[in-house]
Amino acid sequence: MPEKNFTFIEEVRRRRTFAIISHPDAGKTTLTEKFLLYGGAIRAAGSVKSRRSQKHAVSDWMEIEKQRGISVTSSVLQFEYDDFCINILDTPGHQDFSEDTYRTLMAADSAVMVIDCSKGVEAQTKKLFHVCKMRGIPIFTFINKMDREGMNPFELIEDIENALGIRSCPMNWPIGSGKNFRGVFNRHKNQIELFNDGNHGQSIAKSTTGDMFDGKFKDLLGDALYDQLLSDIELLDIAGDEYDLDEILSGNLTPVFFGSALTNFGVEPFLESFLEITRPPQPRSSNLGYIDPESSNFSGFIFKIQANMNPAHRDRIAFLRICSGKFEKGMSVNHVQKNKSIKLAQPQQFVAQDRVIVDTAYPGDIIGIHDPGIFNIGDTLCQDNSQLKYTGIPQFAPEHFATVSTPNSLKRKQFVKGIMQLSEEGAIQVYRRPHAGMEEVIVGVVGVLQFEVLEYRLKNEYNVDINMHMLPYRYIRWIEMDKFDPANFTLAMDTMLAETKQGDPVVLFQNEWSIRNVLERNKGLVLGETSRLE
Ligand code: G4P
Repeated sequence: MPEKNFTFIEEVRRRRTFAIISHPDAGKTTLTEKFLLYGGAIRAAGSVKSRRSQKHAVSDWMEIEKQRGISVTSSVLQFEYDDFCINILDTPGHQDFSEDTYRTLMAADSAVMVIDCSKGVEAQTKKLFHVCKMRGIPIFTFINKMDREGMNPFELIEDIENALGIRSCPMNWPIGSGKNFRGVFNRHKNQIELFNDGNHGQSIAKSTTGDMFDGKFKDLLGDALYDQLLSDIELLDIAGDEYDLDEILSGNLTPVFFGSALTNFGVEPFLESFLEITRPPQPRSSNLGYIDPESSNFSGFIFKIQANMNPAHRDRIAFLRICSGKFEKGMSVNHVQKNKSIKLAQPQQFVAQDRVIVDTAYPGDIIGIHDPGIFNIGDTLCQDNSQLKYTGIPQFAPEHFATVSTPNSLKRKQFVKGIMQLSEEGAIQVYRRPHAGMEEVIVGVVGVLQFEVLEYRLKNEYNVDINMHMLPYRYIRWIEMDKFDPANFTLAMDTMLAETKQGDPVVLFQNEWSIRNVLERNKGLVLGETSRLE
């Protein structure tokens, strides 16, 4: 808890809310832990409840989820560093990968992309990067595991630019690598930062800093390493992209940092530079225009709903991102989509590894509110009666599809109820064949684990068994045309026409080739890769 008293405006301006994105094993958990260590939220590394225990076979998932109760503790973390109040949003690893992972990015104001220096840009990083890019938020790159042998730093920079199509600007440059990783050259300050042992990553790493032409560094590094650094810097000055704050803030240029989360090397300089460059919560777009976070009128939107797996309490937690005004426990707000006043009685916040009841919260903060089943993803809550609705939370394209039905015709009503509720909650997306009923639906998910969750929850919460058959489709596109006439539409053999719950047409494809094929066959056809939530 902050010791100082801040005004409302100061509270807003000291907030930084970001997501860490990476491919599993790149070091996201370790880096998060080190941020907490530097922020003083934990005393020694290793004390954050290990997410490693969550790296498990799919079949273990339900058991773990049950043991964890509501698995929110690691979803959002808040801690203080200097006078900043930092919210970190976790994006789960690939076993847990789901639409939630994407939606979490809707609540972030910036992203930190962690890359393993021996692997370069990996598949999941790419997916998450594209969502960040779509939002136009600043993306910072931390190239991790420099204490291990990896790709050449120039190759890594090239890989980022080629694989992600973003220009990059190295903020620091590694001196040595693997066992020989000694420190970094800080390009902004034009100084060398040599790391001293941080007790194998358990405690804060100290560094020796100074002007790069200070003779002591030549002695400390030895001729070979020092000369290598000089020639690298010369090359960088010619080859690299220039630092441009506007380009960084609009997400067109990623500042790149090298370090090692495990040994703490480069973590604090990264955090400091990140906090200096990023901005507090910015105005958000809504149906009423951009909403200023510093406006006194409380508002926010729901970006994630997490079901409690405890069958005795079938409640859910809705995650609300506060966008403007001050939140106070017990306040009554207007649930715009339902046009209903509700009292936010027991809001929760996630500080370091604990879940606590929150009394006040500010724009940029995430609070968890009890959901008796009234919220949908994308809903807006606000203090006044202005019909304010935050826009821009897309429905992401599922990548796996299955037909789902119940073998028990007496359970059909329960089946439809469960399917509809789970889709409203955002756990699955639901489609059907044109003009078909709901006896058999097509379920689309981003991560295959969602299928298991679906089966488990239908059984446990709705007492319904299901039949599920995987479909070979990997892509969905929303048909974006005012007048779509299926009669004049030519499909390829390996595609399927379906419709959303609202009756909007979609097409399922097996590969990108067949998307191109259908586009060529149907002149004027417009296919969307995401769709807006209603
Ligand atoms: P994730 O959340 O992105 O999935 O990655 P996580 O932090 O769990 O790190 C994955 C593995 O990489 C861990 O090893 C971790 O210790 C290691 N690691 C993270 N950062 C660094 C780094 O800077 N240098 C090196 N050398 N390793 C790093 P593990 O073997 O899976 O677990 P553990 O045995 O270390 O607990």
